[in-house]
Amino acid sequence: MSIVANHETRVVIQGGPAGVNAARRMAEFCHLIQKPFYVEAFVFPPDAGKSAEVPFGNKVLSLPIYKSVADAVQRHPHVNTSLVYIAADRAYGAAMDALNADSIRVVSMITEGVPEKDAKLVRKAALAKGKIFNGPSSIGIISAGQCRLGVVGGAYDNLILSKLYRPGSYGVITKSGGLLNEIIWMCSQFADGITTAIGIGGDAYPGSDFVTFLDLFEKDPDTKAVVLVGEMGGNAEELAAEWLAAKPRRIKVVCVVAGFCQEHLPKGMKFGHAGAKEGMHGEGSARHKSEVLRKAGAVVPQTFGGLGQSIKEVYADLKARGKILPIAEPDVAALPKLPKGVEEAIKGGEVMAPPLLRSTICDDRGDEPMYLGYPASELIAKGYDIPHVIGLLWVKRLLTDIEAELVKRILILSADHGPCVSGALTTIIGANAGIPLSQAVASGISMIGPRFGGAVTDAGRWFKFALAQGMTPQEFVDYMKKNVGPIPGIGHRVKSLRNPDKRVAELIAFVKTQPIKTPHLDFALEVEKITTAKKDTLILNLDGTIACVLVDLGFPEESLNGFFILARTIGLIGHWIDQRQQDARMIRLPLYLAHYDTEPKREAPPRGK
Ligand code: ACO
Ligand code: LMR
Repeated sequence: MSIVANHETRVVIQGGPAGVNAARRMAEFCHLIQKPFYVEAFVFPPDAGKSAEVPFGNKVLSLPIYKSVADAVQRHPHVNTSLVYIAADRAYGAAMDALNADSIRVVSMITEGVPEKDAKLVRKAALAKGKIFNGPSSIGIISAGQCRLGVVGGAYDNLILSKLYRPGSYGVITKSGGLLNEIIWMCSQFADGITTAIGIGGDAYPGSDFVTFLDLFEKDPDTKAVVLVGEMGGNAEELAAEWLAAKPRRIKVVCVVAGFCQEHLPKGMKFGHAGAKEGMHGEGSARHKSEVLRKAGAVVPQTFGGLGQSIKEVYADLKARGKILPIAEPDVAALPKLPKGVEEAIKGGEVMAPPLLRSTICDDRGDEPMYLGYPASELIAKGYDIPHVIGLLWVKRLLTDIEAELVKRILILSADHGPCVSGALTTIIGANAGIPLSQAVASGISMIGPRFGGAVTDAGRWFKFALAQGMTPQEFVDYMKKNVGPIPGIGHRVKSLRNPDKRVAELIAFVKTQPIKTPHLDFALEVEKITTAKKDTLILNLDGTIACVLVDLGFPEESLNGFFILARTIGLIGHWIDQRQQDARMIRLPLYLAHYDTEPKREAPPRGK
């Protein structure tokens, strides 16, 4: 058997992330002992209504989060235990909330730093209701093979090392959480392991003291001996000695009390736990406590170092007298392994997961992004500019000075073209309709297509095709007319030979002063001569010009529309902000701008006729 926590325990955890973390560790224990998970819900008002994920074996459980313990127990009537991870200033309210729930019999408080006044009040309320209040500052309670409340017992490997997968014969009670784990381990090595181990917490006023649990252990037939670790300060150890001396006890008690070193330290020096602050000599001192416990019949080794030997001797004696029977040990190698996370398994070289996607441009696994291997901060330090980042991420190389200058000019010249073009107009309508920035800009960007800024890629592709085929400009114009349609990069609704596009002239002028060859641009200008002879709006437009110079510099076709999209995003963001700073109004066309060519008003016939 066990005490306080057993196979009937059903838990609600009061607390946020720390509580969820504890639940994960408790689920690991359940996986080890292959029992269903006994945490049923969380109580954490800020997240009420949501759920928390707890990995359990190779599955993930989703546990509900409630606003109050009352709500939780209403939905989970079998819950009989609460684990409190609520911050110190609200821990009192949380514990009272739990104690007020009829079905809850045990409240274990992990929270540290709880005001002593609050702890005393909760203890009083628990005693009045005949319930157990464990803690504050408890590391939790564990019953081997049955139930773990809190993170007591440590990591999965330690649960196995300490044989917590099956019950033994020793109870353990300590104030210190760290020592609780240590003694659990000692009991597994020098005896046959534990039934239940309880951390009562190191505060001056623990909710339950040693005697509370000694009494319970005495009544538990499976617990044959109890290891008790005390420390100087308070009188919990003296009360335990009184309990032991009061009448013959079934259980053997092995004790050790920490704090002898205080005899050699300056008076008043703080010694770890809040409760370990009084008594240097005489009552309350480690020496006094050890003496009264020894006198009461406990086995008290001279030093901590002797504890293992004492546990061993008591175990040997109990075994020799037939009080403890040998335990059939399970095959440890056959115990369930804790499933590894995929990342951990990949790191350890145990599994191979084919990647879902592959990136060849940017690596974000370090402390800053690396663009094609160059840390962003280094690019800044060495004076590189936005066009260089574009070069690295779009065409996978550091641009030359001429290329970077050209990209900069393309961005400047294409950044905006006023409010009346498709993209700006759409974004402006969005801004005035109350659409947020990203969506309004995205809707403007979605206008970029064959009739607005999105002809760069196709222009590059077809002019490249023409040169590759060795066509003359006239052959190309004829070919396109016959087989394709409008030549991408040719034509404009507003600009013409008489009203030239200064942006185009600007780009061409720059390129022509540079020591670079421009076969595609030259070809397109010859095409323009033919098309403008037909109609003077059929000029080489901005898309066509950008396309030809970039193809001349070796930029891949896939990248070409990106230049207009990137540049125009600057303008679209500007339009959105501009509209929002004005007295934004719904834009609605006046009715006279629409021609209604619909049916005249008529009466609907009865349905089905
Ligand atoms: N190549 C060859 N002939 C053309 C082209 C072209 N690119 N564009 C129009 N034409 C011809 C038409 O076939 C038509 O000839 P037709 O009178 O014999 O029937 C005549 O020119 C007028 O055609 P429209 O469609 O009225 O021309 P519009 O001025 O409306 O079109 C547009 C302008 C949409 C830009 C058009 O020229 C076109 O589709 N161009 C190719 C795509 C392109 O480059 N888009 C980017 C525009 S610039 C920018 O957005 C920054
Ligand atoms: C632009 O750059 O937005 C314009 O060339 C498009 C247009 O229709 O004028």
